[in-house]
Amino acid sequence: MSVLIKGGRVITAADDYVADIYIEDERISLIGESLDVEAERVIDSSGKYVLPGAVDPHTHLDMPFGGTVTIDDVESGQRAAARGGTTSHVDFCIQAPGTSFNDALADWKSKAEGKQLIDMGYHIAVTDLEEGGSLEELASLPDQGITSYKLFMAYKGALMVDDETLFKTMEVAAETGALVMVHAENGDAIDVLVKRALAEGKTEPRYHALTRPPETEGEATNRAIQLARVAGCPLYVVHVSCKEAVEPIELAREKGWEVWGETCTQYFFIDFTHLERPNFEGAKYVYTPPPRDKANQDVLWNAVRTDVLSAISTDHCAFSWSEQKALGKDDFSKIPNGGPGLENRLHMIHHFGVREGRIGLNRMVELLSTNPAKLFGLYPRKGTLAVGSDADVVVFDPEKRHRITAAGQQSRTDYNLYEGTEVVGDVETVLLRGNVIVDSGEVVARPGIGRFIARAKFGEQLARAAAEVAG
Ligand code: URP
Ligand code: ZN
Ligand code: ZN
Repeated sequence: MSVLIKGGRVITAADDYVADIYIEDERISLIGESLDVEAERVIDSSGKYVLPGAVDPHTHLDMPFGGTVTIDDVESGQRAAARGGTTSHVDFCIQAPGTSFNDALADWKSKAEGKQLIDMGYHIAVTDLEEGGSLEELASLPDQGITSYKLFMAYKGALMVDDETLFKTMEVAAETGALVMVHAENGDAIDVLVKRALAEGKTEPRYHALTRPPETEGEATNRAIQLARVAGCPLYVVHVSCKEAVEPIELAREKGWEVWGETCTQYFFIDFTHLERPNFEGAKYVYTPPPRDKANQDVLWNAVRTDVLSAISTDHCAFSWSEQKALGKDDFSKIPNGGPGLENRLHMIHHFGVREGRIGLNRMVELLSTNPAKLFGLYPRKGTLAVGSDADVVVFDPEKRHRITAAGQQSRTDYNLYEGTEVVGDVETVLLRGNVIVDSGEVVARPGIGRFIARAKFGEQLARAAAEVAG
């Protein structure tokens, strides 16, 4: 199938110009002014932005968590992603205690079988190096395209690892060229605070935030940075929510250490007061780290603008409010942690980031697509519009109005974090490797079209980038 995308404003992390893009055999084969070529499909993009497909480095689809399973499986989650202009993502494959990493990966791949609408890879979440996976097995994963190791420093009694496991994994990463990712919160201190709050009869959703103060995130972020320095591995801190965690990342980056951070869409818009909404509404906003005081929102915008934070993900981990969140009706610690977001990242960041003048268009593309692709071994196949890249393309109408509602969304959950928000700018057409998967705002992808992507090692990626700079 050949496709010609005509006359759009092509925007990458570096460029912004009007051009035609010609696609053959799933890749971009020509970019130029007024291309004189025949194509089976012509997409008129005049007046529209033509963007590289967004890359979400942080999602949880079909994941058992908090006594239930996330409501979006690979199909419904990727449907939401596609509608929002995301054409590839990296999901967390969680090692259940006592199982090997390869068994966990086989399990996760079987959940995606026949359901994929977009391309995806996996991070491996290490939970157990004693009974299940070994260090040797962990070291073998980058050769299979699993090039990032995730560790949870919180969720005591569930996913949390101790510093020994964290540090040993970091040492393996230093050897294998994997990127270490941390959920940075002090899980031991939080566990004490949660137990005390419950003993005092404090059971409402707002105690989710009050028992996870920002200092616990700051402490764990700094600890992970220092341990990564000792181990000699690169580090990526996920879902940074507050000043206390931004500051150690800023310091590390000033010093030139190999440390990167991401935040998520919701931290720019949802604050602590959302957790105080009556009639258990607050439970919709129980995700971790929790919504913080509003003052942190400017800190985060400033951090993404100045490259202290390098990516914006969704941490899409959706549960229904009416049934799944209700598991914690009488005890905030039993509310499954997580929120939806895959469909609205581009909507929200374009409207409130770009239109309202907080970041530029190129920086938006960098944060939502190029940097995640570079950091997670997908670039330049994904994350840019260049000759030879996969033809993952979003035609975005910057003037189209869109009202965000749960009733109109693709996710199976029964609420939306941004319910009723009016944005200007909407996704019109999305192509995955040259195949139209969203047409006039309708998801038309056939399940099975998406693929697993073996990602490049972090070290190799860096070496390639350095060689390019050296010319
Ligand atoms: O509340 C959240 N973020 N749920 C998903 C798991 C995680 O911590 O990323
Ligand atoms: Zn997390
Ligand atoms: Zn997450």
